[in-house]
Amino acid sequence: MQTVNDIRSVFLNYFGRNGHEIVESSPLVPRNDPTLMFTNAGMVQFKNVFTGAEARPYSRATTAQKCVRAGGKHNDLDNVGYTARHHTFFEMLGNFSFGDYFKDVAIELAWNLVTREFGLNPERLMVTVYADDDEAFGLWRKIAGLPEQKIVRIATDDNFWRMGDTGPCGPCSEIFYDHGPHVAGGPPGSADADGDRFIEIWNLVFMQFEQVSPDKRIALPKPSIDTGAGLERVAAVLQGKHDNYDIDLMRALIVASADATRTSPDGPKAVSHRVIADHLRASSFLIADGVTPSNEGRGYVLRRIMRRAMRHAHMLGARDPLMYRLVPALIQQMSQAYPELVRAQPLITETLKLEETRFKQTLERGLKLLEDELATLGGDQPLPGETAFKLYDTYGFPVDLTQDVLRGQGRAVDVDGFNAAMQRQREEARRNWAGSGEAATERLWFELRDELGATEFLGYDAETAEGQVLALVRGGARIQEARAGEDVQVIVNQTPFYAESGGQVGDSGVMFSAEGTEVAVADTQKKLGQLWVHESRVTRGTLKVGDIVEMRVDERRRGAIRANHSATHLLHEALRRRLGEHVTQKGSLVAPDRLRFDISQPTPPSAADLEAVEEEVNRRIVGNSEVVTRLMSPDEARGMGAMALFGEKYGDEVRVVSMGGRDPEANRDFSIELCGGTHVRRTGDIGLFKIVSEGAVAAGVRRVEALTGQGALAYLNEQEERLQKAAGALNVPVAEVPARVTALVEERRRLERELAEMRKQLALAGSSGGGAQAAAEEREVNGVRFAARVLEGFPAKDLKPLADEMKKKLGSGVVALVAVDAGKASLVVGVTPDLTARFDAVELVKAGSLAVGGKGGGGRPDMAQAGGPDGARADEAVAAIEKALAAA
Ligand code: ALA
Repeated sequence: MQTVNDIRSVFLNYFGRNGHEIVESSPLVPRNDPTLMFTNAGMVQFKNVFTGAEARPYSRATTAQKCVRAGGKHNDLDNVGYTARHHTFFEMLGNFSFGDYFKDVAIELAWNLVTREFGLNPERLMVTVYADDDEAFGLWRKIAGLPEQKIVRIATDDNFWRMGDTGPCGPCSEIFYDHGPHVAGGPPGSADADGDRFIEIWNLVFMQFEQVSPDKRIALPKPSIDTGAGLERVAAVLQGKHDNYDIDLMRALIVASADATRTSPDGPKAVSHRVIADHLRASSFLIADGVTPSNEGRGYVLRRIMRRAMRHAHMLGARDPLMYRLVPALIQQMSQAYPELVRAQPLITETLKLEETRFKQTLERGLKLLEDELATLGGDQPLPGETAFKLYDTYGFPVDLTQDVLRGQGRAVDVDGFNAAMQRQREEARRNWAGSGEAATERLWFELRDELGATEFLGYDAETAEGQVLALVRGGARIQEARAGEDVQVIVNQTPFYAESGGQVGDSGVMFSAEGTEVAVADTQKKLGQLWVHESRVTRGTLKVGDIVEMRVDERRRGAIRANHSATHLLHEALRRRLGEHVTQKGSLVAPDRLRFDISQPTPPSAADLEAVEEEVNRRIVGNSEVVTRLMSPDEARGMGAMALFGEKYGDEVRVVSMGGRDPEANRDFSIELCGGTHVRRTGDIGLFKIVSEGAVAAGVRRVEALTGQGALAYLNEQEERLQKAAGALNVPVAEVPARVTALVEERRRLERELAEMRKQLALAGSSGGGAQAAAEEREVNGVRFAARVLEGFPAKDLKPLADEMKKKLGSGVVALVAVDAGKASLVVGVTPDLTARFDAVELVKAGSLAVGGKGGGGRPDMAQAGGPDGARADEAVAAIEKALAAA
């Protein structure tokens, strides 16, 4: 038997041999189409290649593409479990030609694969073509040799494929497999075509047009090919099964579900197992691609899928959460083709477990309420909308889950009533809020949040994505457009831009529209926790509400931010281990060029502490272990030792980021933190970590600043350059710089001492010591000896020792010294002890100080000092002291 994995390989290798590039599946959340909820066909990732907007280095490609058809325009959710071929998640095999080959080669390639590689009997095959496509009709005759009655012309949209309201499209031709007359159903185009006998296995689309708006269709630059074959259907045919759920892969999941619940995979419980098998695939792949359960948008579709499966798990009698226990089975089946499942295994497991644990708390009570309500209803009465709303609002039942419960009884739900109840609740919330008297702009954000819903953040997995402009705001008011040169706040439905929070700065980057509009995004902020506001300026053209824009985060900047953020986590844990458990985060800044981390820590860490911390962080970087993100409840997160961040409010679910590798002794990851920021994939991506400063910011709070990667390297290079320069100036090798500097400092101290001594000697000998002449000599005033000097460039601190020496020399008398240094005057007056009864040094120095703009001085009667700003008047100070002495 060819397994699903074999068939996928045969398909890809066949087209690979025929000149096609084997391209990886793109993520389930489309990066290049904001109007599309999930990737729903193989061509989605090539949309812009078909229209010529994007160039790739190949013109033929083949893929196995992950697809989800739930929640959006293509929604198969309600039917899953009850039919043979509906899935929320499936794989689409396809081959693509971008202006390379067209109809003839496409038909030939398909026919050869189906009949030769897959070995299907041509007798069992028939095809359809679009009603007026004579060319395709002729080619099927010629290439496949099909008789005319096996080529059916179809005039309806079934044979004109379009991706959505807009995008590439064209007529198509489908290949059908005939399961044989024992199965009910007619050929395509017949009245009973919906039967199970003739099954479409492959759709060849002859891409020729682009639908640019609902009423405008233009020709593509070059005719192209897009094909899609549902892998599960093809596998069913090749494995001789009639039901997609009987193929090896699906069966393995169903058996896993049956084993885990100790129920039979077949019989009355079969529907539940099928629902679980399908929804396990959809949920796991969506989580792996960055979708997390929420109450809006994609996250709500995921939640609906998960809860629907969980209700079926409950019906199977599973007491404990079931879904997460089935993840290993899924990984075994599909991780070879989709390694992202392994990468995201912890995230998938925790997310499923958390959702199921929480939902279990209300599921039973909700079902009881529903049962009571149903007992009061007549046979064909639909369930009132109010009840469905209560189940939604209080018990977390998505309305389609309620519908699924009632499906077995053939009972409907009053969906209009449900919507009306929902609307009423919204209005009430708005009224209550409007009464709280917030500022007008805050009111605007609230209104926008209410009207537009939360912005979907794609930036954990993408740095480029398309978004649709939902609103433009300037000066607190909504506007319809913004022109070149104008500032504007832009709100889109989904964005790869990170909005500032948790210390991580907002992203900057650019937006473009197909019409040539360009917008520079300087910063991204979050309003009301859910609305992403891009602080922007239009740089070219005009940006309008409704525009579809390609949004590109400045990747280099984001890469640097990521490295700094992850390094912050490693630093946090390294500090705790070195300094103690009392270390908690008091704040942080994660910017592209640096990181700053504040901690509670009473004493300064020593140089050895900082060195050890730095070394520990770098060791974890070199370890290059994977950074793992999980989603769980705050309690569970704390239970596994996660550090909650200071001042953050946490919702029901938190992201938990672990890194640094497993610590065998502690049996936990090195660092585990609650964090909504963006991180590197592996710690090695941080490159290098360097602490550049540490100091106090407040009582008991220390701040560490550090650099990573290129920034750290640039810093070290700069330090090295400085050292080289110093070595050059000292004329010694770098290694000798410290010893040389120490020697120089010591020598300088010795020289200073010598110089002071020399100055004193010179001054005593009659010279100022600064090179200038002594300005006055010894004379007699008021019957005592008076010696005065003005000393240029003489250090003030040496005045007193000099005055003492002079007093000694005089034996009896008064000494006045004025030193002028850097334009300022310093004065000292000394009086020998025998004269202090007659003269007060303090009074005398005051007279001198006033002459140089000072306010007097201080000291004792035998020695006083003062200063003044006006050094140019030093001689006048001496004169003033002499005058005061004469008058005393
Ligand atoms: N894009 C085509 C489809 O989805 C092949 O059927």
